[in-house]
Amino acid sequence: MSYPIQRHRRLRRSGALRRLVSESNLRLDDLITPIFVREGIDRPVEISSLPGVYQHSVASAVEFAKEITAQGLPGIILFGVPEVKDELGSAAWDPDGIAQVAISEIKAAVGDELVVMADLCLDEYTLSGHCGVLDSRGDVDNDATLDLYVKVALAQAQAGVDMVGPSGMMDGQVGAIRSGLDQNGFQTTGIMAYSAKYASSLYGPFRDAVDVTIANGGDRKTYQQDYRNSKESLSEILADIAQGADIIMVKPAMTYLDIIAMAARHVTVPIAAYHVSGEYAMIKAAEANGWIDGTAVAIEQLTAIKRAGASMVLTYFGPFVADYL
Ligand code: PBG
Repeated sequence: MSYPIQRHRRLRRSGALRRLVSESNLRLDDLITPIFVREGIDRPVEISSLPGVYQHSVASAVEFAKEITAQGLPGIILFGVPEVKDELGSAAWDPDGIAQVAISEIKAAVGDELVVMADLCLDEYTLSGHCGVLDSRGDVDNDATLDLYVKVALAQAQAGVDMVGPSGMMDGQVGAIRSGLDQNGFQTTGIMAYSAKYASSLYGPFRDAVDVTIANGGDRKTYQQDYRNSKESLSEILADIAQGADIIMVKPAMTYLDIIAMAARHVTVPIAAYHVSGEYAMIKAAEANGWIDGTAVAIEQLTAIKRAGASMVLTYFGPFVADYL
């Protein structure tokens, strides 16, 4: 009894043939690298829960941005870690705030060779560690926060950012930021909206990276999405597009491939997916134990994110996988 060789089997016969018929391919051009810039340090500090990723000084961030550009990676997203936090998070829109200084120095060094984005949120800057300002009951005040997000957007735009990345999940944030930018002459500054962002336990190492602890053992479940739900992602994404988002994002990535695939069926704007700190850390930890080939797993995961329908991926792996792509 012999079973006929199937077409797919014939097409897997050699590496060249597999390349020829491959549908989704990870490219260097798909990757955005997060960079943490910390005020008050004069050399890079490795983040223990993100091995190989550093809190940078402004000077070392500029060097890193140049290296990334030389590797051929097309974009970065900056996160500022201020020395002083306050109730409102005012360092986030201070023209001399760490993110603004880093944006302008990096832009001066790399020009348009690199797309410089900046995360737009308040959690790194507020004493509460929440993504917005609190009302008298201690809840995040959506509309008061929108006014502050506009100030941050203008400060980042003034510093020369190419795109802002609002990540706070306040309702109406994209529309507020778009009109604030437009009214102040920043019509060409783009918005990559963290649209479908889940309240995930995979952000732990990131909070080490930006020195954020949410006050009183709190969480973000009132403003970030519930991972038991998928339909609301589509409403969030469509609302952001209607309000002017140029790129929408799904975050995290691997546990939300269904959301990415759903977005890909419904929208025409580019879709970004954030392969987050916990996703990176898990691979690195298993690799350090000799349990998996970290680079191979990283490339497999990043490719799967593209296969699901993402057009680009925010990942800490960019500089590590660049040579393989
Ligand atoms: C909010 C923000 C977070 C991340 C990106 N932007 C953390 C949060 O929502 O608590 C997480 C990124 C990661 O885990 O890699 N400023």
